[in-house]
Amino acid sequence: MNTDSTGPGPSRRGRVAGKVAIVTGAGSTPGPGMATGRGCAIVLADEGASVLVADIAGDRAEQTCEIIRGRGGIAHPFVGDTSRADGCAAMVDAAVAAFGTVDILVNNIGVSVAGNVVDTSEEDWDRVHRLGLKTMFLAAQAAVPVMAAEGSGAVVNIGSIAATRGGNYVAYAAAKGGVEALTVDMAYSHGRQGIRVNAVAPGHITTPLLFSVVGVNAESEYRQRLAAASGVLGTNGDGWDVGRAATFLASDEARWITGVVLPVGAGATTVTPLMMAPHLRAVPAPGE
Ligand SMILES: NC(=O)c1ccc[n+]([C@@H]2O[C@H](COP(=O)([O-])OP(=O)(O)OC[C@H]3O[C@@H](n4cnc5c(N)ncnc54)[C@H](O)[C@@H]3O)[C@@H](O)[C@H]2O)c1
Repeated sequence: MNTDSTGPGPSRRGRVAGKVAIVTGAGSTPGPGMATGRGCAIVLADEGASVLVADIAGDRAEQTCEIIRGRGGIAHPFVGDTSRADGCAAMVDAAVAAFGTVDILVNNIGVSVAGNVVDTSEEDWDRVHRLGLKTMFLAAQAAVPVMAAEGSGAVVNIGSIAATRGGNYVAYAAAKGGVEALTVDMAYSHGRQGIRVNAVAPGHITTPLLFSVVGVNAESEYRQRLAAASGVLGTNGDGWDVGRAATFLASDEARWITGVVLPVGAGATTVTPLMMAPHLRAVPAPGE
């Protein structure tokens, strides 16, 4: 399957036809491959939703809108800081002004910083939690009343397998653990309002953000390494895979699913670590 930024052709089963969706961080770090936020926005639009593409960077939001319109979908950009309460309120107002309501919220923003409890700075801890957890609380706080008034809605939070698998990213892991806790608590509190709340936990996927960190020159080597070592399938995943999973959870096909964390990671969280040894021997360890 083609997994670059032009991606597969639109699937048009209308799984979210007529719905209004907001995706936060739906622009993308520049670079090769498909980001998770952009992937969610495109797949939702392919499947019939009108999408508010929210990003702090106007050019990135506009690029996603252009891709969606080029595939025949409906999108509207929103430029603002969704780690702030006023930014989230303005984002929900913009969706209502553009499309009349909010049915789906995909909380996608998140940043990671490497480090353990000793060498992670307080500033980094606070930034990772503001951009990775507080933003989801604030966006949901603004969107849920609109959904509750409609008597239905779906929230999908983008977590990470880092919530349950150690890797020397203590601030990120704790924020993503918080995303899972936020998900189950919201699912309880808003279930009787017809609002479902689920999470997608991506594994080691290839995204422009990843390649901006490892360097685009190392792109092909990194793709091979991740395919070999990051799951039981031996293949790469990317923002398209996250977009498809998020769209399923947001759609009425998942009408009886709430409070779950769906791993999208080629089975990485299902395997006994020792059984990965033959696959891991084929690639250098991180830092080698
Ligand atoms: N790449 C991976 O391997 C991986 C694995 C697990 C989870 N994830 C998760 O995927 C999510 C993000 O991935 P992505 O590929 O979309 O990243 P990305 O960096 O390509 O895109 C995120 C977008 O968010 C925007 N943004 C940043 N701060 C903002 C703010 N305050 N207000 C509004 N917009 C803001 C950025 O401008 C950017 O365009 C994160 O939650 C991350 O933890 C990624």
